[in-house]
Amino acid sequence: MARAAVVGAGMTTFGVHDTPLQELFAAAALEALDDAGVETTDVEALYFGNAMGGQAENDTHLGPTAASHVGLAGIPVQRYEDACATSANAFKNAVQAVDAGIHDVVLVGGVERCTPETGKDTAAMTRIFASAAHRQYEQPAGLTFPGVFALLTKRHMHEYGTTEEQLAHVAVKNHGNGALNPRAHFGRETSVEAVLDGPVVADPFRLMDCCPFSDGASAVVVVADDLADSHDAPVDVAGVGHATGVVPIADKATPHVTKPARDAAAAAYEQAGAGADAMDFAEVHDCFTGAEVLASEALGLVEDGQGGVAAADGRTARDGDVPINPSGGLKAKGHPIGATGTAQIVELAEHLRGEAGERQIADAERAVAHNLGGDAATTVVSVMEARP
Ligand code: COA
Repeated sequence: MARAAVVGAGMTTFGVHDTPLQELFAAAALEALDDAGVETTDVEALYFGNAMGGQAENDTHLGPTAASHVGLAGIPVQRYEDACATSANAFKNAVQAVDAGIHDVVLVGGVERCTPETGKDTAAMTRIFASAAHRQYEQPAGLTFPGVFALLTKRHMHEYGTTEEQLAHVAVKNHGNGALNPRAHFGRETSVEAVLDGPVVADPFRLMDCCPFSDGASAVVVVADDLADSHDAPVDVAGVGHATGVVPIADKATPHVTKPARDAAAAAYEQAGAGADAMDFAEVHDCFTGAEVLASEALGLVEDGQGGVAAADGRTARDGDVPINPSGGLKAKGHPIGATGTAQIVELAEHLRGEAGERQIADAERAVAHNLGGDAATTVVSVMEARP
């Protein structure tokens, strides 16, 4: 028996939007409801994610506003904020609520605007994102998120000899996948040479190692296991794990190991009764190329120390033995932070339904999504399966 099922999925394009947050969310939400064949009157609760709306757009009490724009005013709405893991946490809680019998039909999703459409440029948005670093020990030192993941990746390079060229292969792969995704922020391919030629953002990351600032929204409809068969093409949620780790980075014993991802994956795999070997593909949180390397190892998809090698050898390509980020990942699909977690669930659902078009992973039956927040101190891992 699955914990719950996803019966509808929707998302906007990720990129630049001049649409207000609640309208952007409503577009994704109404698409998910339409896909599920669910009326607004059937939705029992909205689990809603937005991380930075208060700081970026002076927009704080967004849960009921978003619900109103979808036509859901009246039902309970929970708003989640967990940095970049915001909507994966909303998804976990929706699955738990359905699994516990509290609700039968829940709409879950997230929205964010991070581009200059908010009135904030790259420098201002970088400062806002940096508020997810430790207030006393890291923010005063000027640590920003390219710097956070540069530190974790530098440690990985030191431990295992991972190279900048291997990191560049992650960017090349994800831009290639993104070029096949009509909703991706970037639709252009790149090359290892172009990545290595780019300006340095935070050593070892160059421009093309970084995800962009994006606007966008995503949503899914989660229903109780016993209701799933009354919808077209349900996708089972087999397990959802959630773990946290030590903050600040200076207190992490092994920063390149991303322990919360390992703990969250272990919980999700145990619930699913299936381990890393049984995953046909993964969507992982590649906010920077090095983050994908760390995630691929933490999820057990490749051996420790082999994340960079696997990317360079083509093992993580769509036709490799462990395909990672067929959507283009955060790197090319984009990263509107509060929308990223449920966008990964949308991508899993599309492949498991056989509806992912040109980027379809052949014969995909089971897949894993990994969404992290902050310096990876919050991580949510979800396993989903095609319903037999
Ligand atoms: N990947 C690929 N291309 C990118 C890019 C990215 N991340 N960011 C910008 N570009 C492109 C733009 O499309 C533009 O191309 P064009 O000249 O052909 O139009 C060009 O690079 C310059 O864009 P601009 O918006 O001026 O870039 P920027 O210097 O202001 O910002 C980064 C670039 C990498 C510094 C910024 O995107 C960034 O900080 N990303 C990380 C965001 C982050 O930390 N998220 C949280 C993760 S936990």
